[in-house]
Amino acid sequence: MEKLIIGNLKMNILTPVERDRYFESFKTVLKQKNFSRSHIVLCPPVLHMETFAKKIKHKSVSFGAQNIFWEDRGSFTGEVSSLMVKNFGGEFVIVGHSERRKYFGETDAIINGKMQAALKANVVPVLCVGESQEQHQQGKTGSVIIGQLEHAFAEVPLAKLSKVVIAYEPIWAVGTDLVPTEHDILVVKILIKKFLTDHFGASVAEKIKILYGGSVNAKTVQQVCNQPEMDGVLVGRESLIPVEFLKIAEIIDQK
Ligand code: PGA
Repeated sequence: MEKLIIGNLKMNILTPVERDRYFESFKTVLKQKNFSRSHIVLCPPVLHMETFAKKIKHKSVSFGAQNIFWEDRGSFTGEVSSLMVKNFGGEFVIVGHSERRKYFGETDAIINGKMQAALKANVVPVLCVGESQEQHQQGKTGSVIIGQLEHAFAEVPLAKLSKVVIAYEPIWAVGTDLVPTEHDILVVKILIKKFLTDHFGASVAEKIKILYGGSVNAKTVQQVCNQPEMDGVLVGRESLIPVEFLKIAEIIDQK
């Protein structure tokens, strides 16, 4: 299965000058690489997405948004729909990121609405699931993740299910320098696979990619992606440094 390396640039790149610098650096490093088994997805702030898609044209790179609203259009001040993302060059959208759950009160029902909206517009939802530090310590990781999956996948049309990408992002590993053990990641991967197989059958479960996210860098990537055999990674901080981000992609590609 093709590996996915997704960069979540979050609320960064504040000026056109900074953006141009990012393009230059990204394109220079990209020219020196050849990805045969992996695909890269950049999710900049949505304001920049169209420019990213125009400036970085490469067979191994696609683009996405960090969030969408669940309706297609209308009086929803400040929101961006999945159709807009699609029509302006985006093919992916991050859904249910822990920062959106925490700072914007996104509930499982909201996340389900966004999953449905993304799939309806043929945008790939990258669904983030993961437990807090406290839940981890209390041994509740499994039940938390199953609960998140049950809500997120409720009434999602079966025909589109295999398009979904799932990112396991333990909340305590996001934006910190903590990473779970290979064993911990593998346990969650098996749990997610079992959920998918039980609910949607083995052939759908096989096609759904399961990524790891949280403090991924060139040093941790073996432990969080290659050894537990994940289908790729969701990268935050390191995606802001093209040379480091593409190094991560290369390590995964060459595995
Ligand atoms: P991080 O962020 O790589 O900076 O830990 C990951 C994420 O938020 O998806």
